[in-house]
Amino acid sequence: MTGAREADRSGARHRLAACLAQVPTAPEIDPDFQRQLAEILHDEVPELAGRLAEIDRDVHRNGYHLGPACGIESMPPSVQVRLAVAMAAAIASPARIGGSNLVAWDVTPGPDLAGHQPGNVSTTDGEAVLHTDSAFSDRPEDLFGLWCLRPAERGGASVQVDARDLVHRLLRTPQGAAAVTLLRAHDVPVDTGEPEVRWVRTITDDVVRLRPDLTMRGFARTAHGRDDELVQAFNHFSRALREAAGAPIFVPAGHVLVVDNHRLVHGRTTFSDPRRHLLRIRMTGRPVLEWQS
Ligand SMILES: [Fe+2]
Repeated sequence: MTGAREADRSGARHRLAACLAQVPTAPEIDPDFQRQLAEILHDEVPELAGRLAEIDRDVHRNGYHLGPACGIESMPPSVQVRLAVAMAAAIASPARIGGSNLVAWDVTPGPDLAGHQPGNVSTTDGEAVLHTDSAFSDRPEDLFGLWCLRPAERGGASVQVDARDLVHRLLRTPQGAAAVTLLRAHDVPVDTGEPEVRWVRTITDDVVRLRPDLTMRGFARTAHGRDDELVQAFNHFSRALREAAGAPIFVPAGHVLVVDNHRLVHGRTTFSDPRRHLLRIRMTGRPVLEWQS
């Protein structure tokens, strides 16, 4: 890239950051706030219309998209969140985090790793086993995006497996078909730490839900033994997913990974870098700002 083009790009990012910073502060979940941010992207980043079409195409074709995110890595922290919210609002509708008014979650090792929430893999630096997000909610979000502000020096790569594709392949073997049939017909117990276990259907026609760590605890709490056929079916499916995992995907600084949370299961390799920092936004339904290219 020539020096002049680099200067142009840096000027455009600076202007984008300044415009995003001017939007009056509001709860992240507020659709008006999200729309104002997305409109700024529409005005300031003309090439984003093409990028959004690419995201849509990649997610439909492969279940995920990895690409640059408008220079987010070089912006001030308060603007980084706004830029991620703006992009998310142009992809789908950002989802609320728990009962809060926030949509952007800091994925970074917590200060007290020993005291992290047991069910929350986003605040640890260990390996995150293959899972889907919001697996025990009635309607898990369609998509999630990970905006990388700073990758780990080593490790911390993302692992994706196309679970929908794997289900089709398992149906071609007698043992695989038996496992899929059981997991389609019966809920498995998930121990979320609440007084009662939750019961979750692993495979439906349009959604795969998976939390193997919490499901193993759920089986133990509900006295399902290792020989129980539902336990064996669940283990068969989990093992087949692990065996189908391809090479980990490294998400560089300033890039976003958008993943179909109904079709893919995902995990993360271990890392040891307290400065690793990503922003995660889960999304569902139609974009807040419908993009006109
Ligand atoms: Fe996750």
